[in-house]
Amino acid sequence: MEFLILFFHCLLLITVVQGSSPHHQLDLHENHQRYSFRPRKLFVFGDSYADTGNVKKSLANSWKEPYGSTFPGKPAGRFSDGRILTDYLATFLGLKSPVAYKWRNLQKQKWYYGMNFAYGGSGVFNTFGDLLPNMSTQMDFFEKLINDSVYTKWDLQSSAVLVSLAGNDYSAYLANGGAFQGLTSFMSKVIDQLVVNLKRVRGMGARKIVVTSLQPLGCLPRNTKMSSFQQCNETENIAVNYHNLLLQQAVAKLNNETRNSEIFIVDLYSSFTSVIQHKRDYLGNLKFETPLKPCCMGKSNGYLCGSVDDEGTKMYTVCNDPKSAFFWDNAHPTQAGWHAVFATLKSSFDQIFKYQ
Ligand SMILES: *[C@@H]1O[C@H](CO)[C@@H](O)[C@H](O)[C@H]1NC(C)=O
Ligand SMILES: *[C@@H]1O[C@H](CO)[C@@H](O)[C@H](O)[C@H]1NC(C)=O
Ligand SMILES: *[C@@H]1O[C@H](CO)[C@@H](O)[C@H](O)[C@H]1NC(C)=O
Ligand SMILES: *[C@@H]1O[C@H](CO)[C@@H](O)[C@H](O)[C@H]1NC(C)=O
Repeated sequence: MEFLILFFHCLLLITVVQGSSPHHQLDLHENHQRYSFRPRKLFVFGDSYADTGNVKKSLANSWKEPYGSTFPGKPAGRFSDGRILTDYLATFLGLKSPVAYKWRNLQKQKWYYGMNFAYGGSGVFNTFGDLLPNMSTQMDFFEKLINDSVYTKWDLQSSAVLVSLAGNDYSAYLANGGAFQGLTSFMSKVIDQLVVNLKRVRGMGARKIVVTSLQPLGCLPRNTKMSSFQQCNETENIAVNYHNLLLQQAVAKLNNETRNSEIFIVDLYSSFTSVIQHKRDYLGNLKFETPLKPCCMGKSNGYLCGSVDDEGTKMYTVCNDPKSAFFWDNAHPTQAGWHAVFATLKSSFDQIFKYQ
């Protein structure tokens, strides 16, 4: 008898959640806000700021030493010496870092925490020919798992989604001969495609979607090298601000369409800028004396962190203490850097997930 009551109770809940009018959903939603929304899974799409091991070993230095030296202690596909945004968000949500899609069959027990579909180097469009799955293809992978009933709509409704877009579309655009002057009109195309992707994952049932704003590209070591890592390139940062403005407008429009699901921007631009300017996290625990100088860099032009020459000689240098550097290589923060960035974002995440 007790079982039956429980069963009917569940049925009722499901009916309310799935089959209600917009008005009902609004009530439910407001009710929700009094409680914390604790996601049970984390699904991740995007690029190297979120990838925890999807890119092929032959394609990326992230699988070479000294990547991963702080965590997990050896190269494991993260573009850092240690933990990155995905790991910090998972920990914040009380989850294990979701398994990289590529390793899904080896670590089935980890499906429970969600899955990471992000590929370092990728964008919303193809960036390196067909070598890396773009965000649409990453979402195809996910949709296939849903079609195969590995994950259900309910899993999505009770999950958080992280979408990272750190600018590979723009690097590819410039590398393919695109003019800097034409970047702003290309930005509209990138945002339009991002909107398509966000709508798609929302349509799959995701209710809390977190998307990154573009970090200050002009402050990445690859762009501050010219000034001996002294100054950010403001021309590039102004362009980044335009991307972020378009993103804000697009997300406001998307959120205006429905109350069932919310999209949040995590402001990487402000958090990177704040940490770089203050040379520390806001708690003052970590100090970055020369925040624009990367810990690991190629010994000369043409070599990157992790590169070795034909004889196996290391063609890079690594700083003694990665904790003292904000950037790990020419584009990615160290674990300490991500830690500091996450500390500045924590109150936003508190808001998003309404933790008390
Ligand atoms: C994503 O990649 C696939 C496979 O290369 C391609 O067919 C598709 O057009 C790409 N999507 C976008 C939005 O560029
Ligand atoms: C998932 O199933 C839908 C409906 O059958 C189909 O349209 C879609 O192409 C499938 N997606 C993938 C990635 O297999
Ligand atoms: C800043 O970036 C722009 C666009 O990439 C470039 O044309 C310019 O030379 C850079 N300025 C400096 C000082 O590096
Ligand atoms: C939100 O939608 C309403 C009605 O559809 C519209 O009048 C309003 O301008 C929209 N606001 C934004 C910020 O898009």
